[in-house]
Amino acid sequence: MTEAILLVGGKGTRLRPLTVYTPKPMVRAAGVPFLTHQLARARAAGVEHIVLATSYLAEVFEPYFGDGSAMGLSIEYVTEEEPLGTGGAIRNAASRLRSGPDDPVLVFNGDILTGLDIRALVATHASTGADVTLHLTKVSDPRAYGLVPTDGTGRVLAFLEKPGTPEEIVTDQINAGAYVFRRSVIDTVPAGRPVSVERETFPELLASGAHLQGMVDSTYWLDLGTPAAFVRGSADLVLGRAPSPAVPGRCGDRLILPTATVAGDAKLAGGTVVGEGAFVAEGARIFGSAILPGAVIEPGAVITDSLIGTEARVGTRSVLTGTVIGDGAVIGPDNELRTGIRIWPHTHIPASAVRFSSDQ
Ligand code: GTP
Repeated sequence: MTEAILLVGGKGTRLRPLTVYTPKPMVRAAGVPFLTHQLARARAAGVEHIVLATSYLAEVFEPYFGDGSAMGLSIEYVTEEEPLGTGGAIRNAASRLRSGPDDPVLVFNGDILTGLDIRALVATHASTGADVTLHLTKVSDPRAYGLVPTDGTGRVLAFLEKPGTPEEIVTDQINAGAYVFRRSVIDTVPAGRPVSVERETFPELLASGAHLQGMVDSTYWLDLGTPAAFVRGSADLVLGRAPSPAVPGRCGDRLILPTATVAGDAKLAGGTVVGEGAFVAEGARIFGSAILPGAVIEPGAVITDSLIGTEARVGTRSVLTGTVIGDGAVIGPDNELRTGIRIWPHTHIPASAVRFSSDQ
């Protein structure tokens, strides 16, 4: 097993409030572009050749990861002219694969943070002789996901659309976005047009009698679909809850990157990361947040579960909870910003301009 396709294209992959130009896989989580964690985990599981399938801005990946040799990988880049969907992207990337027709090829969604045992997924694929093996995870509230029921041996029975009624919740297993395909199965996906693996490829394979195997692995799993989830993921990487060999330092309550400056009495906890060149002033308190490189946190600011963009500034005594502050934005002193707010890059919020709690 040496090859993988990593899907990092499609429509919803830019973390737009942070910066117009940074695609989500390149936003820093625990100090490095998120994609680094996936690449490092794949490498640790024995993958040597990776095809990065993207549909836009491929030029942001290549200057950073190059040919992959710095990570012990060989990385190739394939860019779709128009997004081809997950199945179409896999088919399109297959032209770069080196495997034989019966060899296993790993495929990963680029927006999932997981502790999946990749070797176990490959071993399950080999031992069951499946055409495709899927990582399935169990969620407490399956209403937002397509469901994947299996029989007693783990063989997939169906791919069900999001359940609309309680009766339709027949399982708590969902597609976790990591697969092993037999190489020749990828060649059966139609080329040159958008194809969804979940809505088209997998149901058609099932209907044709193919063997789709599920492997339930209830390890750490997080869909980074929202900025809030992204912040959570970064903190979990720092805390060591989400295992990654690419965290640049020891896991713990906080990660302070080289050239960052943190005042002695500032309090950092809950998996907070402070990026290169960032400055955290005295009396600041930061919990479970990602402070990106060059950001400035002024005295007494209190920041919780937030993403503070590159070179953004948070003013004295401002209180931010569950926020996303775009690159270069300035939040003046004495503001109070709450969950869900996203401040566009380079926006300037004046002093004492926003509050939620009653005046004192
Ligand atoms: P479809 O199955 O194609 O309908 O996409 P989806 O909406 O179910 O996929 P989702 O948006 O959950 O994305 C899953 C992963 O596939 C993410 O890592 C995306 O970056 C990636 N992805 C989605 N669409 C495309 C695409 O058109 N091209 C490429 N290269 N990757 C994609």
